[in-house]
Amino acid sequence: MKFFLDTAKIEEITQAAAMGFLDGVTTNPSLVAQTGKSYLEVIQEICKVCKGPVSAEVLATDYAGMMEEARRWRKVAKNVVVKIPLTGDGLRAVKTCTEEGIPTNVTLCFNATQALLAAKAGATYISPFLGRLDDIGIEGMEVAQEIRSIYHNYEFSTQILAASLRHPLHVKQAALLGVDVITIPFKLLPALIHHPLTEKGLQIFLEDAKRIPA
Ligand code: G3P
Repeated sequence: MKFFLDTAKIEEITQAAAMGFLDGVTTNPSLVAQTGKSYLEVIQEICKVCKGPVSAEVLATDYAGMMEEARRWRKVAKNVVVKIPLTGDGLRAVKTCTEEGIPTNVTLCFNATQALLAAKAGATYISPFLGRLDDIGIEGMEVAQEIRSIYHNYEFSTQILAASLRHPLHVKQAALLGVDVITIPFKLLPALIHHPLTEKGLQIFLEDAKRIPA
């Protein structure tokens, strides 16, 4: 399973890279808006640090505008993946991107049939937003399971990128489900790393170590 960081903050990306689990980065307009920098500047900076796939989202909502932005994003760096929303125009853009060899991440996916269409259009990644489904009382992980089954049934090569993950249970369930990629916010990292028994055990070892003769 690949670990992507869901952020536009370069310092978070640098820290995750230093810990050895930065396989890629996803961004979205909301995350980029928090940085106060232009979208282009943010993606250029990220691509200097992260050599894995870096998702940059189109802002146009019509096919022609999406394609113009997709081609422009692709020229920024070889590892840019163009993030396209799951709309009719979006799916058309995904199909053209696929034909042109531009990798895509289809975003704002909320059910299995949407994911099926994205795979048919040739999407490289599909991003079901699991936390946002949970927010409205629909089991996000069940939707991810359905997508996994459908992709398996028909041997689609589109990778499932579990997004909008909010807590360690999401990460564990996504991993058990066998999604290809998870993207997590930086703030989730401490909750994944720390365990009270690890901290307590370490304290005991350090205390006991003081009694070891030099
Ligand atoms: O990658 C999608 C993610 O940014 C959405 O997360 O927490 O805003 O639902 P959230």
